[in-house]
Amino acid sequence: MDIQMIDLQGQYQRLKKEIDAAVSEVIAGGSYINGRQVQTFCSHLAARLAAPHVIPCGNGTDAIRLVLQALGMQPGDEIILPAFTYIAAVEMVASLGLTPILIDVDPETFNLDAGLLERAISRQTKAVIPVHLFGQTCDMEPVMKIAAKYRIKVIEDNAQSLGAEYTFSDGSVTKAGAIGHAGTVSFFPSKPLACFGDGGAVITSDSSLAGHVRMLGSHGQTEKYRHQIIGCNSRLDTIQAAVLDVKLKYMDAFTAARRKIALRYDQVLSSLDEIKIPARSLFSTHVYHQYTLQVGNKQRDALQAHLKASGVASMVYYPLPVHEQEAYKWVARVSGDAGVSTRLSREALSLPIHAEMTDAMQQFVIDQILKFFRK
Ligand SMILES: Cc1ncc(COP(=O)(O)O)c(C=O)c1O
Repeated sequence: MDIQMIDLQGQYQRLKKEIDAAVSEVIAGGSYINGRQVQTFCSHLAARLAAPHVIPCGNGTDAIRLVLQALGMQPGDEIILPAFTYIAAVEMVASLGLTPILIDVDPETFNLDAGLLERAISRQTKAVIPVHLFGQTCDMEPVMKIAAKYRIKVIEDNAQSLGAEYTFSDGSVTKAGAIGHAGTVSFFPSKPLACFGDGGAVITSDSSLAGHVRMLGSHGQTEKYRHQIIGCNSRLDTIQAAVLDVKLKYMDAFTAARRKIALRYDQVLSSLDEIKIPARSLFSTHVYHQYTLQVGNKQRDALQAHLKASGVASMVYYPLPVHEQEAYKWVARVSGDAGVSTRLSREALSLPIHAEMTDAMQQFVIDQILKFFRK
């Protein structure tokens, strides 16, 4: 067997007819930049998220930078982020001359520990970037309350959890990415909603912020050749938007398929004392962008090597916490202690999970894991 983390070709084969037709229409139509499919897709996504504005851009990293710039962040401002995360948000914060302040994550959900937020806030703090890691949201109600108290902005990095839903204590439900002042999305090929290259978007209900993000990503212009501010070029290609508009219709079905696989992993793997299956938080649904185990007793790397030798891919997201990364250890400051983040970077292991995975494939993965621990 050769079992990969995801199966992009398999997904394409399933949707080939519709995707080929949508792409051919763009090629024949000739509007390769800012064609009508871009706006159509953005309005479909906005409707899905119940968000007034979805502004397309070049990728999920640009989306974060555009929001930080549009919110007027200035060098020296402090931005709070989780210490266990993908690097993009920290990178954009640091590259704008802002100071990343890292807080630890929850040992169950891998997400920013909202209980540590308040004590990390100083007079310089201007924003917090909760990163919704692996498919479920951070605990957003306390984050929003603390942010309101200290008048700081909340930027949700929602590259990995599009489609997840957060339930507030009053029972109201909001889509991930549409809770904070702004949310950002990546359409990178492996993401929950993915195109055939790079793509991203900013989500917001703030019309003035939306206008500013749009202007920044379009060379600082509101009208052609009239430049109000210094901007950049960050666009979602028409072809990618056409692909995304097709895939958006299937996003829920793909999520349901991944949930089924996650449930089966849960049922079998929860019997193993050596590993911890991914926790489901009480307030967020899980879209299982990743199915991530915690493997204790320093056995993670040996398990990964065993899986590899059996033809099963697995991934370590992420092998180092931010404060141990060469580029950031002098730039980012840890508030308190980031021991959970450090431990997770030694213990996290993500297994294959995707809508094309058959029962036989999953059984094979499970068998290899059982074999490893029951040797
Ligand atoms: C949490 C997170 N944030 C941001 C990004 C950046 O997205 P992109 O690769 O589209 O720039 C990613 C993508 O890998 C991510 O996983």
